[in-house]
Amino acid sequence: MALKALVFDAYGTLFDVQSVAVVTDEAFPGHGETITQIWRLKQLEYTWLRALMGRYEDFWTVTRDSLDFTLATLGLAATPDLIARIAAAYDALELYPEARQALEELAGFRLAIFSNGSPAMLKRLVAQAGIDGLLETVISVDEIGVYKPDPRGYELVERRLGLAREEILFVSSNGFDIAGAKAYGFTVARIERIPATALRAELANTSGIGPTALFKALRMQPERLGASADLTIARLTDLAAYATKQR
Ligand code: LAC
Repeated sequence: MALKALVFDAYGTLFDVQSVAVVTDEAFPGHGETITQIWRLKQLEYTWLRALMGRYEDFWTVTRDSLDFTLATLGLAATPDLIARIAAAYDALELYPEARQALEELAGFRLAIFSNGSPAMLKRLVAQAGIDGLLETVISVDEIGVYKPDPRGYELVERRLGLAREEILFVSSNGFDIAGAKAYGFTVARIERIPATALRAELANTSGIGPTALFKALRMQPERLGASADLTIARLTDLAAYATKQR
């Protein structure tokens, strides 16, 4: 079946979650890296735990709660104002440098985001990056109160686009999201931000590894969940050549 649409994960795929480090380090000099990594690790953990508990709260709440957890764990006191300012960094994430060009090159396809982000968060994010005009739609798990990798989320994408799963290429750099989308039945492109060999070299440092290396090891490698990506590429701009052939 011909490819009709490309659907992108947001956090970590189009938008660089690591870009909050500027704000976290400004707020707590010297602690930025640790805060950034624990915050993101805990944020996703809370989506999975809330899903298992049957206690869905939207991604903004989860993002605030995981930031609270992080600061409390590190023993860093912050005023509500400062916490709000740090959390707001999630609305101002940087686009990966090649993301805009990649979306422009794919203009002949239907383009959408499918994300854990709440509709309000995604609206702010897409607007501040100025890519709203390049996307047909932004789909949030919040519409049905589940989190990735729940298959009902990927099903929502199919339903919202009115396409069969075979007509959709799903694009993500998050291992759990790749496994979920593939298990659901999408063709999946993995963006390999950190090649395994480069990461292995970083982890080989026996005098200790930092929070960022740990994050890369835990969240930026292919998962062993029985569902692997169909293709692995280094940059979003590598998509156009593949997609054009599948048209
Ligand atoms: C998202 C998370 C997976 O954007 O990063 O859905």
